Amino acid sequence: MQIQEKKVPHLVILPLPFQGHINPMLQLGSLLHSKGFSITVIHTQTNSPNPANFPNFNFEPIPDGLSDGQASTEDPLTVVSILNDTCQVPFNDTLSRLVSDGPHGPVTCIINDELFHFTKAVADHLKLPRILLCTSSPTCSSIMLSLTLLQQTGAISITEGQPNTLIPEIPPLRIKDIPDFSTTDPDTFERLAENILNAIKSALAYIMNGFDDLDPTALEKVREDRHPTPLFTVGPLYKFSPGASNSLITQDHSCMAWLDKQPPQSVIYISFGSVASIDKTELEEIAWGLANSDQPFLWVVRPGSINGDDWVELPEGFEEKTREKGRIIKWAPQQEVLAHPSVGGFWTHNGWNSTLESICEGVPMLCSPYLWDQNVTARYVSHVWRVGIQLENGFDRSEIEWAIRRLMVEIEGKEMRERVGCLKEIATRSVAKGGSSYESLQSLIDLIMSL
Ligand code: UDX
Repeated sequence: MQIQEKKVPHLVILPLPFQGHINPMLQLGSLLHSKGFSITVIHTQTNSPNPANFPNFNFEPIPDGLSDGQASTEDPLTVVSILNDTCQVPFNDTLSRLVSDGPHGPVTCIINDELFHFTKAVADHLKLPRILLCTSSPTCSSIMLSLTLLQQTGAISITEGQPNTLIPEIPPLRIKDIPDFSTTDPDTFERLAENILNAIKSALAYIMNGFDDLDPTALEKVREDRHPTPLFTVGPLYKFSPGASNSLITQDHSCMAWLDKQPPQSVIYISFGSVASIDKTELEEIAWGLANSDQPFLWVVRPGSINGDDWVELPEGFEEKTREKGRIIKWAPQQEVLAHPSVGGFWTHNGWNSTLESICEGVPMLCSPYLWDQNVTARYVSHVWRVGIQLENGFDRSEIEWAIRRLMVEIEGKEMRERVGCLKEIATRSVAKGGSSYESLQSLIDLIMSL
């Protein structure tokens, strides 16, 4: 699957500067580089990737107008709106320079995060084709399409009904699982959503980070909706490009030696990704739930993730009780951790990258979704793929203790481990020669090469 031509096609990639978006975009860039493409990353100064991790890429920073810390303190959708306004001119300037006299040859195509709709105007002006990467789940995208239709026809109103009420048209989702993208400024959000949809319709291609057999119905629905823009399912991207992630926080690799000393499938790994935060009471409930479960644990407490605190103050007596059993770190090498034979469960917020990583390493989940697509994903994990248990009442130490035991030691957990093991095999087959993602990647490469 290597490019034969002498001329090296040059791709410009533009990630959205959040951890859950940077990783898949750089994984895609690494994958295409391994197939012979030259890669330039145009990136915001905020949360910029580390060029040392990608010595074969060319990096071009652009100013983004965000003040220090604004990316982590503002509502993320507001940040996306701001960036769509502030990045257009510097992106246009940088790309114009690359197009006319770049050292890496003429630009063949742009690949950007789908939430950056401003690239449409720039690409149209420079007459460059544009490919979009969607970093959230195909399942959630398809649910959003169904919801729009149901609301347009007046079939349901998600503002009515109790949170636990099932929505018959989109089982097994309940009112409370519907993604909430509301912001402090609904007009801004509506404009943003409209611009993103318009930009999708005229793209050359649309890439999703998933694999066909996980939710074929959802993919079909998204494919129909994106038509005539072709959809390429090229995931799990991290399986094609292991080690191509770019952590914004330093990963603590010392936990790997600790994992080596734990019994097989005994450790529950806990991490709620790069955006979710909890308050001190929730921290306390989590801590005692873990301690009382008596199960070995590896717990990521990200700096800044406890509301109102720079770092964690653990409840009195917790460290003493768990010294032999647990380990707390600021940020993990997550993909390696999930692949470690000692890890038997993942307590996650169900960000799409984390969920895919858990499925592809065959690790069943405890689900505590936080926002956006995560509720839908958690519900699918627990009720469709049946590879996890959702905590339904926030963070309550007794529920946590019981759920951890169900996942880690009870027969129920064993059955989930078997089911997720089957999904792992399907995912592994999809990226191997002849698999659906492998073939989809080949078609994507053919399309770019035809430009
Ligand atoms: C966000 C949203 O939460 C998610 O729902 C959306 O689909 C993408 O953007 P985030 O919250 O960061 O992302 O979660 P997730 O999608 O799971 O991405 C986190 C990434 O950080 C993963 O690739 C994971 O491997 C990595 N990670 C996480 C680490 O490297 N170390 C950690 O300790 C935790």
